[in-house]
Amino acid sequence: MPRLIVTTRSGETREVEAAAGLTVMEAIRDNGFDELLALCGGCCSCATCHVHVDPEFRALLPPLSSDEDDLLDSSDDRDENSRLGCQIPFTEELDGLRVRIAEED
Ligand code: FES
Repeated sequence: MPRLIVTTRSGETREVEAAAGLTVMEAIRDNGFDELLALCGGCCSCATCHVHVDPEFRALLPPLSSDEDDLLDSSDDRDENSRLGCQIPFTEELDGLRVRIAEED
């Protein structure tokens, strides 16, 4: 199973394993990180799954859709590494992906 390395808002980092086929949001949520609210359940309509992704992995990620881009614009914590976790399928190729949970808006 691919590994995901998650840093919380308080700076704690934990490595978890998650089945390929989930999204990054589901992998984080299902491993007990309750600060990732994912309120819309992955429908790309809430932005509460906002994460900052390690730039080394950026080329492996699916392109940003206009809906995702618009939602991220609503966040004060947006930067060039911002993505919505529900829009990133977690594949074997992303093994070792590092993400940091974005600040709450
Ligand atoms: S879970 Fe709502 S936009 Fe990702």
